[in-house]
Amino acid sequence: MLKLNCRNTDSEIIGQEHGLNLEEEFNIYSEKISDIINVLKQKKDVAGEKLQWMNLGYNEETVWYVKEFASMVENRFENLLVLGIGGSALGGIAVTEALLKPYWNFLTKDQRKNLPRIFFLDNIDPDSINGLLDILDLKKTLVNVITKSGDTAETMSQYMIIKDILKNELGDDYRKNIVVTTDKKMGILRQLADQEGYKIFYVPDDVGGRFSVFSSVGLVPFALVGLDIDQMMNGIKDMASALENTDIRQNIAAQSALINYLLDIKKGKNMSVMMPYSNRLKYLSDWYTQLWAESLGKAYNRIGEKVNVGPTPIKALGATDQHSQVQLYNEGPNNKLITFIRVAEFDTTLEIPPIFEYTGIGYLGGKTINDLINAEADSTRVSLADHNRPTITITIDKIDEYNIAQLLYMFEVQTAIAGELYNINAFDQPGVEQAKNYTYALMGRAGYEGSAEELKEKMSRV
Ligand code: PA5
Repeated sequence: MLKLNCRNTDSEIIGQEHGLNLEEEFNIYSEKISDIINVLKQKKDVAGEKLQWMNLGYNEETVWYVKEFASMVENRFENLLVLGIGGSALGGIAVTEALLKPYWNFLTKDQRKNLPRIFFLDNIDPDSINGLLDILDLKKTLVNVITKSGDTAETMSQYMIIKDILKNELGDDYRKNIVVTTDKKMGILRQLADQEGYKIFYVPDDVGGRFSVFSSVGLVPFALVGLDIDQMMNGIKDMASALENTDIRQNIAAQSALINYLLDIKKGKNMSVMMPYSNRLKYLSDWYTQLWAESLGKAYNRIGEKVNVGPTPIKALGATDQHSQVQLYNEGPNNKLITFIRVAEFDTTLEIPPIFEYTGIGYLGGKTINDLINAEADSTRVSLADHNRPTITITIDKIDEYNIAQLLYMFEVQTAIAGELYNINAFDQPGVEQAKNYTYALMGRAGYEGSAEELKEKMSRV
């Protein structure tokens, strides 16, 4: 199980002005938290509540189909190319970066045990797309097009480019190189995939993009590169049952959600820094940033009052960003809550040779890089506490399928609970829609002519 250390948010450690009286707050909020957990549990199967992500750990049928597909295409492709954006990409990137051997795409075929290299296209930068197409042999590439809505301009434009190349290179066989993950009923991609006869996986109803990492959105690429998706399911199930505990003192997601919320509304800590001390967890921060930002950044609360809430998530990486951001965290405005993720046991150990004994760096000799990175995590935490800066430390035993699934699922529940505390809908994203519609108008999509006129007028002013 993950360990959560929130002592450094307590006023006993960082003072009354910046810290919370945790005992008192846990007492005050224990009933509310218990209600929230019960409500989430009750509503999780109610259509439209967007809580089906809470059931993904039990989705044995999907796991079976995904594994069957992975074994069908085994050894057939050298590369897997994932097309998707936002919630359709960030979880996949975070988990594969965490769990595949570092520099996976540079390993030989034997070192990868014949499993494919993996590439994600989650942007529409022409230089980077062209750059990838220059190095990728699409004939030997399985392309997984992932879009829940089935009409996201970024993903669909990539799909159109790649399908065209594949068709020119492979003739009618191009279909075997495409697998689609999309909504069961709606969306243009769903229709096209049917017409083309692609293999299709469905994103279940009531699972929003940023909560979809353990649906077929993530599971298909994970299985294709050989990750153990059964262990992921076990991790989610165990964490889900731990987080059903309605006692805040026993529920780490509830504790963390409450502390984040109270430090924001009471102590002005409206910036939320995610700082893992592990390169393999670097992209977890990108996933978390979207989860936290799109879920909690809202204009209106559930009763229609204008609130404009939401802590701003910030990505950082330990120890690298100690030499970049920590100066600001220690001495700049005291408006941040920093969450550290610490890895208890790395997969490998790296000893520092005992050389340069009689120099200023001699003390490093005979130690390990593992000791050094964790010493740096500890010393940064303590130095932040010295400056009355609140921090939370999450310790993960090791980076494997079971623990990573636990960690991500815990953050999802934490986000859902925080949404209830802010009394906002954590599962919509109205603030993204307007710019999307403007883009459709600019690109001439039928039905958006009115917006195009409005936009032209605005563009001349803004
Ligand atoms: O969390 C979300 O819902 C969004 O970030 C979506 O995942 C993102 O906009 C991509 O949408 P789609 O999967 O429909 O292409």
